[in-house]
Formats: sequence, C-alpha cells, structure tokens
Amino acid sequence: MPEIVEAKSRKAPLRLDPPPESPPARLPVRFARKMTASTQADLTSLGWWRWVTGVSRLHFEAVDDATLEKWRHVHNVIIPADPLSLEDVRERRQRFHLELGYVGDVLAGCSTVRPPMDDAGKATVIVRVLPEHRRQGIGGEFFQRELEHARAMGGKVIETVVLESNQDGLRFALSHGFVEIERYVLPGHAVPFIDLRLT
Ligand SMILES: CC(C)(COP(=O)(O)OP(=O)(O)OC[C@H]1O[C@@H](n2cnc3c(N)ncnc32)[C@H](O)[C@@H]1OP(=O)(O)O)[C@@H](O)C(=O)NCCC(=O)NCCS
Repeated sequence: MPEIVEAKSRKAPLRLDPPPESPPARLPVRFARKMTASTQADLTSLGWWRWVTGVSRLHFEAVDDATLEKWRHVHNVIIPADPLSLEDVRERRQRFHLELGYVGDVLAGCSTVRPPMDDAGKATVIVRVLPEHRRQGIGGEFFQRELEHARAMGGKVIETVVLESNQDGLRFALSHGFVEIERYVLPGHAVPFIDLRLT
C-alpha cells in the first residue's frame, strides 16, 4: 500500500505512460482522492494496473491439445494427492470445460467447470491459483468468470469441491457464499473432500 502524500508541487511527476507495473511507493493525494476506499485497499500490482488502465492484466484461455500439460501442471502442484496423467486431462477435457488463467504471460491458475448432467442443473466450478499468485484477487476474478460459464451451460445449482487440507480454498468458498453439504474420503485417499453449494 503506497504512502499517500500531499505533493510539494502540482507538477510532481507521476509517469503513467506506460503505467508502472507496481504502484509508486508514495502516491500524491490528488490521485488517492479519485479512488474509492476499496481501490485504495487493492493497490497490489494487479489492482493498480486495473485502476490506471481500466483493464485487467488477467487473461484466460480454454485448454486445447497444446496446453493440456500446463493445466495438468497447475492441477498437480495444487492437488498432489490426486495427480493426473496427460491422458486423464485429455479425457476430462471431453466432459468438462477447462481453462488456464494468466497474469500477463505468466501462468497463474487453472479451472474446471463440470456442466449439469440432468434436469436438476447441478454444475461444479473449481478454480485453482498457484500459491505464489494468491491473495491478489486472481481467484475472485477467475471464479466469477467460470461461474458465468457454468450458468451459460445451464447450471442452476452451483457446487464446488475443496480438499479439507486446502484451508485457503475452504475460506475462499465460504466467503463467496458456499456452504458445506458433504465431507467424504474417497477410496485410496487420506484427506477428506468437502462438497459445498452456492446459496
Ligand atoms: C481458493 C483459491 C483459488 C483462491 O485464490 P486467490 O487468488 O488467493 O483468491 P483471491 O485473491 O481472490 O482471494 C483470496 C483472499 O485474498 C484476499 N485478497 C484479494 N485481493 C487482495 C489484495 N489485492 N490484497 C490483499 N488480499 C487480497 C481476499 O479478500 C481473500 O481473503 P480471505 O481468504 O480472507 O477471504 C486458491 O487459494 C487455491 O487455488 N486454493 C486451492 C484450490 C481450491 O481449494 N479451490 C477451491 C475453491 S473454488
């Protein structure tokens, strides 16, 4: 969070073209006045970029044959208890909508949307963000995007699934309006999975 200072001169330079990757350490008060309190609280490099340019630095792409391995990498780093082979990912891509999320050119996360299988309209949305990219708002933006995908696929009831050991994931799901509906241990697994439903 930059220090907000009264500029000594109206001409105090703040170069915005191109915008710096990160917010300056000291931000003239005339800039801070234009921000809402939540923008001020979100002055990470991602929040700064979004505020100055009006566009998100995140971008997303559906997984294709060339990017199966990237999706697998993120999944297996985050869920080491359930490592997937390339063949597993290829098979999942036939049934589910899989995406990758990037900050600029850097791979930051992956997602799975399981579309509804029947009239009950239950869709499952899971987002995963690599540990080094967490707590910058990526998961929140990614989740909103995938929620829209799930609804566009006919999802009326939205669920997610979190490993009990993923405390970040559990807190994220609860703070995004999910409630726990079931906790179970799959054969061959030591850590319980938790199913949650969006209320
Ligand atoms: C769940 C997960 C996707 C969240 O990713 P993330 O990128 O850290 O998510 P966000 O940054 O949007 O939000 C996480 C926290 O950072 C906070 N945050 C968001 N932007 C922030 C910012 N600019 N500065 C500081 N904190 C910020 C959020 O308020 C939230 O706080 P909380 O945990 O106290 O509620 C990630 O932890 C993960 O991949 N977990 C393992 C996989 C998993 O369990 N997925 C299931 C959930 S669908």
